[in-house]
Amino acid sequence: MFNIIKVNHEEEFNETGAAIIAGLLQANPKAVLGLATGSTPIGVYKKLIERCQKGLLSFRQVTTYNLDEYVGLPKDHEQSYHRFMDEHLFRHVDINPLNTFIPDGNSGDPDQSAAYYNTLLEKSPFFDLQLLGIGHNGHIGFNEPGNELIGNTHVVTLHESTRAANARFFASSEDVPTHAITMGIGAILHAKQILLLVKGKEKSEVLRRAIYGPITPQCPASFLQVHPRVLILTDVEAGAFL
Ligand code: GLP
Repeated sequence: MFNIIKVNHEEEFNETGAAIIAGLLQANPKAVLGLATGSTPIGVYKKLIERCQKGLLSFRQVTTYNLDEYVGLPKDHEQSYHRFMDEHLFRHVDINPLNTFIPDGNSGDPDQSAAYYNTLLEKSPFFDLQLLGIGHNGHIGFNEPGNELIGNTHVVTLHESTRAANARFFASSEDVPTHAITMGIGAILHAKQILLLVKGKEKSEVLRRAIYGPITPQCPASFLQVHPRVLILTDVEAGAFL
């Protein structure tokens, strides 16, 4: 079931997203969070950092699991999701690094890294909240559109459209990795609550398909329709069809 919050400004978007997460952490300081990368959550993370630095919020007892990671990028590579999380959240808040988990895309054996991540997820309590963005082609995490979806963490071949969309972050389009490790749709749907962040008019059509279209692996985000508690935070542009 979807609840939708549509806001007018970037500032309101980031403040609302942060308030939802901060509210959850205040009610449950030991919360387990599923976290996302991409440009959309950056402003929300910034607001959480501000609250933490003002002493209004603490991540000390929080555990986090990230959705995905590129294969073949060293952890300190500018575009690795390890680096992203460190730069945009972890290093600025009081989280215990031992309680932050991200698939290891640089182990030399991505299938084994994915299997290891699954064992971690199996031992973890249900996530209190899973934060999500959405790709232009309807992917969530790096679960790409296709004829089937996989429940567990696995290695994916990135679609050319995804590599093209993410090329803006790399020096050249050839530098964008061809593979990634992603949590599967099963683990994502296990979260008690999902917060989907969607911004910008180029996401309006895919958001419409995800919410009102058929539930199909051709649009992985459409599987959110089966989850009982999904909150969509959107700006007016992305939410034009809602
Ligand atoms: C990447 C990530 C996704 C994210 C998507 C959208 O592909 N793997 O988790 O949702 O990008 O990113 P953006 O927010 O930059 O549009």
